[in-house]
This record gives sequence, structure tokens and C-alpha cells, in this order.
Amino acid sequence: MAFVDAFNRSITYLRISLTDRCNFRCVYCMPDEDIEWIPREKILSFEELELIVSVFAEHGLKRIRLTGGEPLLRKGICDLISRFRQLGVDEIALTTNAFLLPKFAKDLKNAGLTHLNVSFDTLEREVFKKISRNKNLDRVLDGLKAATDAGFENIKLNSVIIRGINDHEILNLVTFAAKEEHILRFIEFMPIGSGTIWGKTAVPVGEIRQRLSESGMLRAEQQSLGFGPAQYWTFSNDEIKATPVGFISALSSCFCDDCNRIRITPTGGLRACLGDDREEDLAGLLRAEVGEEKKKSAIEECVHRALATKKHTHSFAFDKGPSTQKRMHAIGG
Ligand code: 5AD
Ligand code: SF4
Repeated sequence: MAFVDAFNRSITYLRISLTDRCNFRCVYCMPDEDIEWIPREKILSFEELELIVSVFAEHGLKRIRLTGGEPLLRKGICDLISRFRQLGVDEIALTTNAFLLPKFAKDLKNAGLTHLNVSFDTLEREVFKKISRNKNLDRVLDGLKAATDAGFENIKLNSVIIRGINDHEILNLVTFAAKEEHILRFIEFMPIGSGTIWGKTAVPVGEIRQRLSESGMLRAEQQSLGFGPAQYWTFSNDEIKATPVGFISALSSCFCDDCNRIRITPTGGLRACLGDDREEDLAGLLRAEVGEEKKKSAIEECVHRALATKKHTHSFAFDKGPSTQKRMHAIGG
């Protein structure tokens, strides 16, 4: 029986943040310095994660997404992916900044990773430096190539558009994704965590879509199909043919009605909603001096507790400050 929340939403999608560490410092995710890192011993071990996933797998889990920080910084990630596959989870997705993909793409494919999302906000070196505070855009481009060569298809590119920084690149990003046969999704900048540059810099996805339609170069059509939080539209011009582009608008048009997800933070916080700082403590249960079966039933009860109070919707709004204290890299993007 699938886990179900108080609004009768089946929870079939588990997002696991493997680490709060990152080799980038994206402006929408974390500050540049004075970051308080989570002590290593607090981060869940692979054995602990396996036990949690085995409980979810017995309750209709369909998909896991591994996030961070940067999940490829977690040693042994390929092994973890194989272990999850062996527990019967058929879809394992990863969100990465691609920097380490030249090294890992093949091994990830062999380990059984099925879906790949890459943070990709810009095609310009100077802008890349401003957004990610990392200098090596070429490495990211190489990472994307390595992933394609390793056999990943339908790679999704996540773009957060920030006014005055990369909003002049909207069209170029669509053209690039179309040529490389990746699926671009514009993600509305969300007010997560203190100390990021949210505020007047967030560009509503409706504005992005309008700017694409009005560019005179792209013809837009809404696609009736689509799943998950993205709404897809098809764009085309003389250069590119019928390219689907996703728009994920957490703020301007909330998609919470169909929410199917729950999150685990690096320290084992079971978080029912991205926008709600309340967490149940899985680490405490996992580290208690009791046998495996007891731990599994404690995990099950913990999930029920979190779901009983899972909110119907987040309270993000354009005219409010951050909705959470915790930052994105410590929750899981
Ligand atoms: N708003 C929207 N998306 C965000 N991400 C990180 N922080 C934010 C935010 N504040 C997304 C990035 C990245 C993924 C890990 O999370 O698009 O691809
Ligand atoms: Fe790192 Fe991803 Fe956060 Fe950027 S968005 S700093 S790549 S965790």
C-alpha cells in the first residue's frame, strides 16, 4: 500500500539529499562564504539510507531523486545507486551541476541511473561565474557531452532565470537545448533560505514564456501532455523544430494539488514539503540500539506522522521574504 497523506495524495517519489557540500556556490542556493557545513558524522550512511528506502519500496515507491548540495561529491554514489536498484526501485534520477560528469557519467549509467537533470543557467562565461561562482563553464559543457556519450537520453536542463543576470539568455538557452536535444525547463526562482538574492530578481515563468513568444522568432503552442510540476510548451522557428520547453512555476501557478513527493535531508530529516521547515528525525530512530525490524516499523510510523501534517500547499509568494530558514543545499534542491 502506498503512503498517502491527509489530502489523499499518494507519495511515490522520494528525494534524497546526499550531502550539503557543493563545488559551486549558486546565488539562488547558498551564500559565497560563512557557510556552516553539517558535521560528517551527522550525515546518513549508505546503510541507513538503504533501510529507509527498503521501507518506501514496500509502500509503492516509484522514483528516487538524488540531490545535494552536489550529489556527485558523495563518495561511492554509484554503489548506492546499484543498491537502490537492487531494492526494486526502477527509476533513479540525479540532479547535478555536471562538473563531475566527465569523470562519472559512464559509471552512473552502468550503476543503473535512469534520469539525469543538470543545472544549466547560462551559456556565457562571465554570467556563469556570477551565478555559480565557479570559473569553469567548459567543464559543465564537457559533462553534458560525457552524459550523452554514456547513453543518457532526454537529459533535462534546469534554468533559473534571474533578472539583470541571465534574463537576456532565455532564447539562447532554448536554442542550445534544442540543438543538443536536451529538455530545457525554466524554474521559477523560489524564496528558499535566508541569505540568497531572492526578491526583485525573480522572473515569473509567465514572463519568460511571454518573452519567448514575443521574440518573433519562436512560435509557441501549449502541450496538453506533461507530468510532474512542469507545464510544457512547444517552440519552433527556422532553426529549431517543435522543441518542448518546460515551465515550473512554484509561485505564479502552484502545482501542489498533485504533489507526490517527500524529502530526506542529509542528516535524515524527513521533510514533507520543501517550503515547510518542520522535519521528523529519522537519524534518531536509525541510531537507536534496536534491531532492524523495529527500526523499519519506526521509520514507517515516522513517515505516517510526517504525512499526517503535510501541508496542502507551500506559502511562497513574490511579495514575501524567504519561506524557509534552511537553505536549498541543506534541504536538497
Ligand atoms: N529557486 C529555484 N530553483 C532552485 N534551485 C536551487 N535553488 C533554487 C531556488 N532558490 C534548483 C536549481 C538546481 C537544483 C539543484 O535546484 O535549478 O538545478
Ligand atoms: Fe551547488 Fe546545486 Fe546549490 Fe548550485 S544549486 S550551489 S550547484 S547545490
